[in-house]
Amino acid sequence: MIIGVLNQKGGVGKTTVATNLAAVCAKVGNRVLLVDADPQGSSMAWSSAREGEPLFPVISMAKPTLHKDLPDLASDYDVVIIDGAPRVNDLGRAAILASDIVLIPVQPSPYDVWASADTVQLIKEAQQYKENLKAVFVINRRIVNTAIGRDVVSALQQFGFPVLTAGFSQRVIYAESAMQGLSVIEADPKSEAAMEVAQLAAELIQTKPKTKKERKAA
Ligand SMILES: Nc1ncnc2c1ncn2[C@@H]1O[C@H](COP(=O)(O)OP(=O)(O)OP(=O)(O)O)[C@@H](O)[C@H]1O
Ligand SMILES: [Mg+2]
Repeated sequence: MIIGVLNQKGGVGKTTVATNLAAVCAKVGNRVLLVDADPQGSSMAWSSAREGEPLFPVISMAKPTLHKDLPDLASDYDVVIIDGAPRVNDLGRAAILASDIVLIPVQPSPYDVWASADTVQLIKEAQQYKENLKAVFVINRRIVNTAIGRDVVSALQQFGFPVLTAGFSQRVIYAESAMQGLSVIEADPKSEAAMEVAQLAAELIQTKPKTKKERKAA
């Protein structure tokens, strides 16, 4: 399965979601590859900051031909996660076309909801070529006990993609663990952050698009 973590808006949590999701998938025994499709190279920098053994390989592939180059490599892995670039349309398009499912991190703010329209547009264009392509929103930086979360969910639903129940809260452990090239499940496996990352992975597995074989059997 290839999961693209994408949003044309900068700073919404693409790298935070991609690195943590990759770590939890690897911890439960999947062969995981993290693809840094952002010329800023944040996932590559995250991985270089690490002192211990890596949980999974991270490669840089910030190319508009990603959708053509990735399938060969991806066949050696159970889960491939793409950390997408903000703003650059041809990179975004390639990452979307390379994905089976696109995960769109959004912060609970009206600016993020409005800015999602560009990413939604790119995904809807790609769905014309790839009808089995799925997309879901994931809320990042939730602030516990605030009402804005509910407003954002209903505003996002108008784009026609589901909003996952699982999401990440605003927690300093996400930034602190990243400084050391760690995921939150390694930095503090018993933390609430570790729990929410595991919940996100579990919910994503349920929404995973069916393979051709599974669709035929259904
Ligand atoms: N849930 C969170 N709680 C606390 N800090 C967070 C959270 N999510 C992200 N951050 C911090 O916010 C900043 C931006 O996050 P991140 O780099 O993951 O976003 P991005 O979408 O990948 O950005 P870019 O568009 O530049 O690639 C980082 O410093 C990160 O540590
Ligand atoms: Mg990033």
